[in-house]
Amino acid sequence: MISRSIEETQKCASDLARRLKPGDVVALVGDLGAGKTAFVQGLAKGLGVPKDAYVRSPTFTLIAEYSGRMPLYHLDLYRLRDARELDGLGLEEYFDGRGITVVEWADRFPGILPERTITVSFSIVDETTREIVVPAGYGTHRP
Ligand SMILES: Nc1ncnc2c1ncn2[C@@H]1O[C@H](COP(=O)(O)OP(=O)(O)O)[C@@H](O)[C@H]1O
Ligand SMILES: [Mg+2]
Repeated sequence: MISRSIEETQKCASDLARRLKPGDVVALVGDLGAGKTAFVQGLAKGLGVPKDAYVRSPTFTLIAEYSGRMPLYHLDLYRLRDARELDGLGLEEYFDGRGITVVEWADRFPGILPERTITVSFSIVDETTREIVVPAGYGTHRP
């Protein structure tokens, strides 16, 4: 889909949120500023995370947890240098857990995510336009 504003990007994410089930893993792939964190904000909204939960990139913590209808685990690998830094985080437990795991910059460490991962890609078209590709069956269907 083509998104012409941050709100449209968030709407695209909340449409996806309605199709997600516990244990789903969503990888967000695209350049800096492409709208990945904005998309996570929409996912949070769609999962019923309270509005006062401030969703931004979990820079210092690697993973941030929000509670909505089901837990949302937000992982951002932008600053990660080595996949070994993830040891001891218990990633498998997040992936197989009761919630949704969403991962920014997942493509920097291919192989850490389960095969069933749902990948959403973002490209910057111009200053306010983004192209977002959601796998078939996970978006809104409009003729
Ligand atoms: N259609 C759009 N969708 C999402 N963000 C947009 C859009 N148009 C402009 N932007 C801007 O692009 C930036 C996206 O930032 P962010 O979501 O943090 O990107 P990323 O996490 O991919 O680095 C924000 O400053 C936002 O205002
Ligand atoms: Mg980001």
